[in-house]
Amino acid sequence: MERILEPEVMDGEEQVRVYANADFAEENQGFVDQFLALYPEIREETVLDLGCGPADIPIRLLRSRPTLRVTGVDASGPMIHWAEDAVRQAGFADRIQLICGRFQDLQLDRPADAVISNSLVHHVPNAFQFWYAVKTLAKPGAPVLIMDLLRPDTPEEAQALVDQYAADEPEQLRHDFYHSLLSAFTEDEIAAQMAEMNLSRLLIDVPDDRHWLVSGRVF
Ligand SMILES: C[S@@+](CC[C@H](N)C(=O)[O-])C[C@H]1O[C@@H](n2cnc3c(N)ncnc32)[C@H](O)[C@@H]1O
Repeated sequence: MERILEPEVMDGEEQVRVYANADFAEENQGFVDQFLALYPEIREETVLDLGCGPADIPIRLLRSRPTLRVTGVDASGPMIHWAEDAVRQAGFADRIQLICGRFQDLQLDRPADAVISNSLVHHVPNAFQFWYAVKTLAKPGAPVLIMDLLRPDTPEEAQALVDQYAADEPEQLRHDFYHSLLSAFTEDEIAAQMAEMNLSRLLIDVPDDRHWLVSGRVF
């Protein structure tokens, strides 16, 4: 099945409300735990989160490692609005900086010490822009952890994943999950993109039936 692109930015008010209220605790905490297990030396650094959404991952990261700082970037105004409220309520406004803008246009005062991103790449029409941003926004040797959905072979398989993992979720979330799966990349496509971008020190893994995970250091 060819990739069927979904809209890049999640800026519908209802779409943002449903996404921000959804329970991604297991997946997001698993992502944070894996990041800290892979890079236990990370302590005082500034971590850049590309496509941070409602900032659940930055907040979980700070709860697990309160000495870190996070810069979260998202192109959606409503999403950043949710993120700002959540960060304030969590008491991390002094440690999590939120920027509303496209990562393609992002310029940092100094390169990020580490880069994370969950569930952004499938939104991006040209994934090379994403890998280019990772390379240019991170300092040499920066650890990265990037996760996203895997595109199934057929629409029927995508629907089966939605039914298996989002059976009781609101229709908007099921709709977005289905279209995100159709818009996602395959493991081979991600591996080819990284090879083309000379990101050969990054490793790709497929931890379950619907995600790919890239880790390692960028140089
Ligand atoms: C599926 S959400 C993931 C949010 C968050 N990372 C998480 O795991 O909960 C993808 C987010 O990427 C944002 N996004 C899409 N294209 C973007 C771009 N070019 N620059 C910055 N953010 C973007 C969307 O607005 C959306 O909030």
